[in-house]
Amino acid sequence: MRILVFFFLVAGILFGCAEPGLQDKPISFKQPHYFPPINFPEGNEPTQFRFELGKKLFYEKQLSKNEDQSCASCHRLPAAFTDGRAVSSFHENEFARNAPTLGNLAWSPYFMSEGGVPTLELQALGPIHEKHELALNMEGVIDRLKSRGNYSALSQAAYGRELDAFVITRALACFERALISGDSKFDRYYFLKSNDYSELEKRGMELFFSERTQCGSCHALPFFTDYQFYSLGLEDADIGLERRTYSAADRGKFKTPTLRNIELTAPYMHNGSMSSLEEVVSFYNNGGGTRSTKDSRVKALNFSKEEEAALVAFLKTLTDWNFVQHEKFLSAEED
Ligand code: HEC
Ligand code: HEC
Repeated sequence: MRILVFFFLVAGILFGCAEPGLQDKPISFKQPHYFPPINFPEGNEPTQFRFELGKKLFYEKQLSKNEDQSCASCHRLPAAFTDGRAVSSFHENEFARNAPTLGNLAWSPYFMSEGGVPTLELQALGPIHEKHELALNMEGVIDRLKSRGNYSALSQAAYGRELDAFVITRALACFERALISGDSKFDRYYFLKSNDYSELEKRGMELFFSERTQCGSCHALPFFTDYQFYSLGLEDADIGLERRTYSAADRGKFKTPTLRNIELTAPYMHNGSMSSLEEVVSFYNNGGGTRSTKDSRVKALNFSKEEEAALVAFLKTLTDWNFVQHEKFLSAEED
């Protein structure tokens, strides 16, 4: 199996640019043994050219109306596929939100803060049409791209058909499923039994998974999310899950975000209202916000200064430096 993976990696480097008639090859994504196997949707199992095409589209500014934005404008690799802004740059939308990380989406049962999008293939349609994101329609995108570079050849090689909405959404999803992140200091300590965790980090980990804080019950292993929806009591105009269920009991509930690479994805929360991990920990310590739908686990915790520092130190061990520096995920044109 290892030899196979290596072969496809080499093949990928040698044949990185598709030529017409070139044979596509299945590839495997390298993943830690402590993550469950990925269920790829039928017809979109990963291949070298599906991945290459998806990556090209992810960095393609032609996807936006003014040819000035791509998916990667808001989902930047060095920031673990976030953009450092409180909310996405278009402020007219009353529900403009903080751009989430795109790590480990292959395991996510649904997408967006209210979980209203069932597959990654469908999710890709959203940003292209959404007037606050890329703001172009799919027919417009296809017309633009067909005549450019090697899109048509790549599309034929990857999916055996002309570039169309089917191909664009599948290729983007294929690339996104490759964004696997599970090689942090925490993983090496917890799953691989390394011994380079400091006393402060150990103390933080104990606190995180304790009955007292219950952080780990919502931010559950191995992805640091249980994919459920809760309110931390934050009050703003964004009604969250209620948008999908029309139930006032769901007001202000959002999908538990992963905490992997959290050190790199500031500012925090759906509205980007907290700028540092210290601020987030102090928010939890003070019992969260005031909204009546707040989950009962979010309550005053009476941390000592040392406990606050320990939790922050622990959260900083969730960074996967190999992931955010992985050249495979970068576009050659962007550098
Ligand atoms: C203008 C900034 C912006 C652009 C451009 C953009 N996104 Fe996003 N993306 C966001 C924001 C903000 C959210 C969170 C929306 C929410 O939760 O309701 C998001 C959410 C997502 C999610 C859901 C993640 C999850 O955990 O549920 C995926 C997947 C995604 N984007 C992929 C893409 C792809 C693919 C493109 C290009 C076709 C793209 N995005 C373009 C800002 C952007
Ligand atoms: C009841 C479930 C629950 C518990 C318990 C919980 N969280 Fe959260 N956490 C969430 C949800 C939901 C969000 C997103 C809320 C939002 O965007 O409005 C969140 C957001 C965060 C964020 C910001 C993530 C981001 O990408 O913006 C951090 C950091 C965090 N939590 C850490 C912790 C720590 C540390 C604890 C324990 C002290 C904890 N959480 C306890 C559900 C929970």
